[in-house]
Amino acid sequence: MRAFVVDADGRLALQECPPPVPAASEALVRVAAVSLNRGEVTRAQGAKPGTRLGWDVAGEVEVAAADGSGPPVGTRVVGLVASRGWADRVAVPTSQLAKVPDAIALTTAASLPVAGLTALYAVRRGEVFLGSLLGRRVLVTGTTGGVGQFAARLARLSGARVTALVRSAADAPLATAAGADAVAITDGDADAARALGPYDLIIESVGGSSLARSLDMLAPRGICVVFGVSADTEAHIDARAFYMAGAKTISGLAVFEEIKTAEPAGRALALLLALVGAGRLEPPPTETRPFARLPEAAQDLLARRVRGKLILTLE
Ligand SMILES: NC(=O)c1ccc[n+]([C@@H]2O[C@H](COP(=O)([O-])OP(=O)(O)OC[C@H]3O[C@@H](n4cnc5c(N)ncnc54)[C@H](OP(=O)(O)O)[C@@H]3O)[C@@H](O)[C@H]2O)c1
Repeated sequence: MRAFVVDADGRLALQECPPPVPAASEALVRVAAVSLNRGEVTRAQGAKPGTRLGWDVAGEVEVAAADGSGPPVGTRVVGLVASRGWADRVAVPTSQLAKVPDAIALTTAASLPVAGLTALYAVRRGEVFLGSLLGRRVLVTGTTGGVGQFAARLARLSGARVTALVRSAADAPLATAAGADAVAITDGDADAARALGPYDLIIESVGGSSLARSLDMLAPRGICVVFGVSADTEAHIDARAFYMAGAKTISGLAVFEEIKTAEPAGRALALLLALVGAGRLEPPPTETRPFARLPEAAQDLLARRVRGKLILTLE
C-alpha cells in the first residue's frame, strides 16, 4: 500500500507501507480521491518523521466492518479520519462514513468532509443560538477558502442574507457564485464589511485583526463562531467595547470535537450529499491533480495559489 509519510528531512514522501488493520467498527476503503485542507497541510510542516496525515477520503469499501455496521463491499463512500487519509487504503470508522449516490462523483464527495462539515456545524451553531437564520445577517470571512465557500452556500440555504468578506475585487465573482448577497473587499478598506452590518452571525476563520473587527461588527445578541486562524492566532480585542455593545457571544468550534458531541460525521455527510444530489448545494469549484503531486499541491494551498477545494485522485 502507498501512503504519504513525513520523511527524515521533514518532507512528504510517497512510501510503501503495511496496509491498515481495521478495528471491528471500521471499513477498509480503497481510496479514489482525497481533498486537502489548510489545517492538515499546516500540521505536515514540522511534523515528526513517520507522521501520516490526511482527513478527507472518498472511494470504495474493500472490506466491510467486521461488526456488521456500515456499508457492504463495493459501496462508494466518503469519510473523515483523524489521520492517515493520504493513502490508497484507509480504515474509516463506519460512524464517519456515508454512502455516495451514483450521480455524485467521488472527486466531488471528497471535498465534503472537513470543509463541508465545519461549515455545516458553524451554520447550525448559529441556527441553534439565534433560533433561525431566516432573514438574519450573516458575515462569512475567508469566503474564497474551502470552508468559507461551503459556509456561504449553507447560510444562504438557511435563509440568511450573506455578506462575503474577500481580500481582492478579483474574488468577488467567486463569492457571489457561492451565494453571497453582498461582497466586501478588505484590500484598501479593512472595514469594508462594517457598512453592510451589523451581523447576527459571523463565521470567522481568518483570526488576528479579522477576528477583532468581526466582534466589533456583531449585532447585540449576535454570535461569532470562530474556528480558524489563517492569518494570525492572536487578536487584540477591546473587551469593554465588546461587553458594552449588548450580550455578544463568541463561540469556538473544532470539527473533530463536533463529530463526537454534536451530529456524527456520517449522518452530517449524508445530509450534505443529499443537498448536493438534490441540486440545492453546489459544491465549491475544485481543482484536481494526481495523488503523487500532493506535496506541491500542499504548498500551493498554503501559498493561496488555489481557490476553492484541491482534490487529488488515485488510479
Ligand atoms: N476548527 C476546525 O475544526 C477547523 C476546520 C476546518 C478549517 N479550520 C481552519 O479554518 C481556516 C480556513 O480553512 P480552509 O480549509 O477554508 O482554508 P483555505 O482553503 O486555505 O482558505 C483560507 C481562507 O482564508 C483567507 N486568508 C488566508 N490568509 C489570509 C490573510 N492573511 N488575511 C485575510 N484572509 C486570509 C483566504 O483568502 P485568499 O483566498 O484571499 O487567500 C481564504 O479565504 C483555516 O485556518 C483552517 O485551519 C478549522
